[in-house]
Amino acid sequence: MIPTNTSGLRRYMEKDERIAVMQVFSDLCDQAKSVIGSSPYTHTELDFRPVAEKLSSGEPEDAWENLKVAVAHCGKCKLCSTRNHTVFGEGVIHPLVMVVGEGPGAEEDASGRPFVGRAGQYLDKWLASIGLSRETNVFIGNIVKCRPPENRVPEPDEIAACIPYVRKQIELLQPKLLLLSGSTAAHALLERVEGVGKLRNQTFDYHGIPTVVTYHPAGVLRNPEYRRPVWEDMKRIAQILGLPILGKS
Ligand code: URA
Ligand code: SF4
Repeated sequence: MIPTNTSGLRRYMEKDERIAVMQVFSDLCDQAKSVIGSSPYTHTELDFRPVAEKLSSGEPEDAWENLKVAVAHCGKCKLCSTRNHTVFGEGVIHPLVMVVGEGPGAEEDASGRPFVGRAGQYLDKWLASIGLSRETNVFIGNIVKCRPPENRVPEPDEIAACIPYVRKQIELLQPKLLLLSGSTAAHALLERVEGVGKLRNQTFDYHGIPTVVTYHPAGVLRNPEYRRPVWEDMKRIAQILGLPILGKS
């Protein structure tokens, strides 16, 4: 436990020692900040403390574990006040494909797991059609890690606060391909404004990673006319990665 409260320290430490301890804590906060990322929100000790404690625990530096701790305790945007669970994402490390959706829905908020509701089960089927699954070769995450109330689209300030986490996840996971599902993920990570209809059928380069855009499974459940384009997108991904096309189940 790191003492961070100067009056608490005063009782048993000389001034020089107190300054040294506060300096160590401040350095740890700077390190924690590089894990948490910048945001338009004021960082409080609440954001830094769990990460700073992890960094000072003497355990070997593990950027992925630090990131998990940072997300689990995050208070960088207003979505922290209505969430039940943060949803970090799940799947394998160094996956073939990393899928990025929009944000947790009700089932995800209740369970802390990504894409477990109806849309998620549908997404799993798309992936299975080309031999992909979160158990073997996929990591699934979201642009925002906390559920927006009533499943509304995340607001620009929330995306700005949360996006450093997904960028860091991509950097650490180094997937062979990035699949952006829906316009929120595509707009946020590619910094483009066109609709999915315009962005699909292209392969973008996200920091050296081939990146494909497709519709969001919730949107496809509502609009069956998107089923065929999604199937075309899955086949194109299979082709890029040299995967077998197993077909729709
Ligand atoms: N929709 C998303 O975008 N992400 C989830 O995790 C679930 C539904
Ligand atoms: Fe933090 Fe992201 Fe949750 Fe906002 S949505 S509180 S930035 S984890």
